[in-house]
This record gives sequence, C-alpha cells and structure tokens, in this order.
Amino acid sequence: MQKVTGLAELEAWRVRYLGRKSKLINILRSLSTLPVDERRDVGARANQVKNQLEQSLAQKKEELDRSVNLSLQKESIDISLPGQPYHLGRLHPTTRATREICDIFISMGFQIAEGPEVEWEYYNFEALNMPAEHPARDGFATLWVDYVTESGTRPMLMRTHTSPVQIRVMEHAKPPIRVIAPGRVYRYEATDATHEWMFSQVEGLAVDKNITLADLKGTLFEFARRLFGKDRKCRFRCDYFPFVEPGVEIAIDCFMCGGKGCRLCGNSGWIEILGAGMVHPEVLRGCGIDPEVYSGFAFGMGVERIPILKYGIDDIRLFYGNDLRFLRQF
Ligand code: DAH
Repeated sequence: MQKVTGLAELEAWRVRYLGRKSKLINILRSLSTLPVDERRDVGARANQVKNQLEQSLAQKKEELDRSVNLSLQKESIDISLPGQPYHLGRLHPTTRATREICDIFISMGFQIAEGPEVEWEYYNFEALNMPAEHPARDGFATLWVDYVTESGTRPMLMRTHTSPVQIRVMEHAKPPIRVIAPGRVYRYEATDATHEWMFSQVEGLAVDKNITLADLKGTLFEFARRLFGKDRKCRFRCDYFPFVEPGVEIAIDCFMCGGKGCRLCGNSGWIEILGAGMVHPEVLRGCGIDPEVYSGFAFGMGVERIPILKYGIDDIRLFYGNDLRFLRQF
C-alpha cells in the first residue's frame, strides 16, 4: 500500500486484494465447504483481514483525494483578480518620424535609396565638393575607423551625413532621378541636451532636365505643410553647403505661437527644418552627369528634430538612452 501514489494504482491494489477474484474473497466464499469446527475460526480471521484491508483502502483514498484537491487549488485561476498587463512592442519615435517623412516623399514619386554607415572619405567629402583641405570639413566632427587589408590599412569613417548616398545613386542611375535616403549618421561629439554622437537624417535628391529652384521650393513647401499642417508658412534663406549652389536654409513659421515668438522658436517666430540647394555642377560632373544638360536639387534634414519639435522633447539623449518610461509614450 505504501507504494501506491495515484488513484489508478489504488484501484489496482483493491482489485488485487479485495476484488472478486482475490484470494481473500475466495476464502470467504469457500467457507461453507470447510468442516464446521474450522469454519468459525477461518471465517473470523478472514473477516478481520478484510476489515483491515478495507480500512487502509479508505485511508489511502482520503489521502490521495486531499492532495489532488490541493494541486487543483494551486492551479486554479482567480478570475476576480485584475489581468496581467500585456506589453505590446512599439515603434521608436525616430522610426515613426522617418516613415512619416518618407511616406510624404514616396507619395510625390520619390524612391528609397540606402548607403553604408561606414563610408569612404571620397563619398562623404571629396565627391561632395569638399577636398582634403576644405574648411567646410571642420563643421563635421568625424569618427575615423581603419579598414585593414593584407596590403595595409586605409582610413574609413562613420558617415557624418546621408549626402554620400546622393553620390552612390548618381554613379549608377541615369536621370530622371528622384530618391530619398533615410539613415543613421555619426559625429565625434560630446553629448549634451542638443548633441548626440549618433542621430538620423533623411536626404533627398532630384535630377532631371530643367529642374530649377522653383521645383525645390514647391516640393519642400508641400512637404513642410504635409508634416506640420497646411497653414504653415515657409521661409527660404541663403545658406552655404559646398555640394549645392545656391544653397538654402528652410524654416517654417512656428506652429506653437503662429510666428509671434515663443520658447520653441527661440522668440524668432521661425523654426529651421532643412538644408537644401541646387546640386553643384562639379558634383554632377564627378558622377558622370553632364551639368550642361541636367540639373537637380538636394536636401537633408535631421529626423529627431521632428518629434523634438512636435512633442516638446527637451533632451536628444532620451532617444537612445533606452529608458522605457520615455519610449512607451510614443
Ligand atoms: N548634409 C547636410 C548636413 O548634414 C545637410 C544638407 C544640406 C543636405 C544641404 C543636402 C543639402 O542635400 O543640399 O548638415
């Protein structure tokens, strides 16, 4: 009986010792065939054994029932308790902003292009009209890495902007070209509330016959209004980037104060959102595109800046700090 650990085993035990074919029951059944004087003693003894066996059967049954009930209790679910929260994953605010920007340009006929984050100096600087000693390189704090080959090391860099993708596209595609290139970029910089060593940009490029500054203005004006609201005004001012001529900086009127001046726009009424310009003839020529036949415009913008402005985020380091309390808000 001690070896019995479950109800099925207990039943087997019962059949074996108390069942209709068990030895004990056989003895009891055959009492009448015994001589009268033996009958009493054997009958009394057999009944005593039967009682004992039946007692331990009942005891074991109770024991087993109790442990089954206990484990049922443990496994049961109390449906009156509140449910366990089920955390759904969500898109990072940078991913969401990138997609929002790309969707607008895709709807205007642009295609997505991609380029490497570890880049040759040629694509990041030289082909963009910034040769080795060009002072504009000072504006880009660059992270250098060594590309090691059997014949020695060659310098590479973490791309400082997405503009090198323009070159990679123009080297292979023939005009008409309309592409946008989203991606991560890197700067060798100490971080603070407005600086990160890694952030995201979206680059744009359109090359065709007869593309003018008016096309640039129309496209980017439309973009700004789709992203920030149809009542937005745009301001185009001269700016300098070595790879465009002329270069422009584009600002929208502040959507918080409507242009009156507030904390968001630094009291100027305007918020800068993009750099842009007409692709420099030297850049086109370097990619094998004849600047006498073709012209183009290009633009580049920081992605994190969009949610920073829209949601009033006051520290860019929150984006890649992996604090779920921040990320779960989007
Ligand atoms: N690459 C520039 C930067 O990182 C942004 C930029 C400005 C891109 C003007 C362009 C452009 O394509 O035309 O600051």
